Amino acid sequence: MAQSSTPMRVLVIANQKGGVGKTTTAINLGTALAAIGERVLIVDLDPQGNASTGLGIDRRNRRLSTYDVLIGEETLQAILQTTAVPRLTLAPSTLDLLGVELEIAGRKDRAYCLKGALQALEQVQQSNPEAERFSYVLIDCPPSLNLLTMNAMAASHAVLVPLQCEFFALEGLSQLLSTVDQVKKTLNASLTIHGIVLTMFDTRNSLAAQVVADVRSFMGDKVYDTVIPRNVRVSEAPSHGKPVLLYDLKCSGSQAYLKLASEVIQRERRYRAADADLERNEL
Ligand SMILES: Nc1ncnc2c1ncn2[C@@H]1O[C@H](COP(=O)(O)OP(=O)(O)OP(=O)(O)O)[C@@H](O)[C@H]1O
Ligand SMILES: [Mg+2]
Repeated sequence: MAQSSTPMRVLVIANQKGGVGKTTTAINLGTALAAIGERVLIVDLDPQGNASTGLGIDRRNRRLSTYDVLIGEETLQAILQTTAVPRLTLAPSTLDLLGVELEIAGRKDRAYCLKGALQALEQVQQSNPEAERFSYVLIDCPPSLNLLTMNAMAASHAVLVPLQCEFFALEGLSQLLSTVDQVKKTLNASLTIHGIVLTMFDTRNSLAAQVVADVRSFMGDKVYDTVIPRNVRVSEAPSHGKPVLLYDLKCSGSQAYLKLASEVIQRERRYRAADADLERNEL
């Protein structure tokens, strides 16, 4: 079980390429972490709202959304919605988010709106024993390196990159890595790459195995051991408003996301131990 003293870890799920499995990873990694006992918040920062729909939160029930939070009209706590998954909470999005860039573009702190909201949430959690305490926040981004994604990267400890096993995968990855470098220089010096998760792996496609080998030789141990297979149950689940773990726990997609969750937790422990060593050496 997640300890109440565990600090809140914020991971942004990003790739500027569309349809690579960002939302599927946010929903199902979030569900798997919750199944293992973590308290998880998924922040839907994509105007498409696919994470919200995939978690069964109907558009009619999204009166308040991440839009209201980014423009500073609501706190994150005010917009949270419980989901059918125990320990998994959602901050939903609506199409209003499409207009948020224009609304906040003139603000000096425009890249830090989400960070401010998450800090306020953490403070409430720390000061109020009744408040829900999250150990993981997963932010689902749109397929673009726009101000929404910049807000997510500025607010996060680390980036988790879903990469589809296809020919152009590495090309898109280089662009994302240089953006992360840019963000480190400007918005968030401590941002790291948590890991790269290869998605939609198709055993019948010989090219897919080559892509996996290429990405591993380019990125080394930043690539998670777990590879998410292409699995029809994974793609069916959102139309039922359910994570695949609730839709079909035994299918290969669910099992892969459970494995990924335990790898994420193991990496977290390693990173934390390394940070503690660093602090000790600095003293
Ligand atoms: N492992 C998988 N097996 C089968 N289908 C998958 C798998 N992962 C994702 N899909 C399907 O691929 C499509 C794209 O996935 P997803 O919506 O997660 O990508 P995305 O990166 O969030 O897209 P966008 O950039 O539009 O936000 C969806 O229809 C999803 O159901
Ligand atoms: Mg998406």
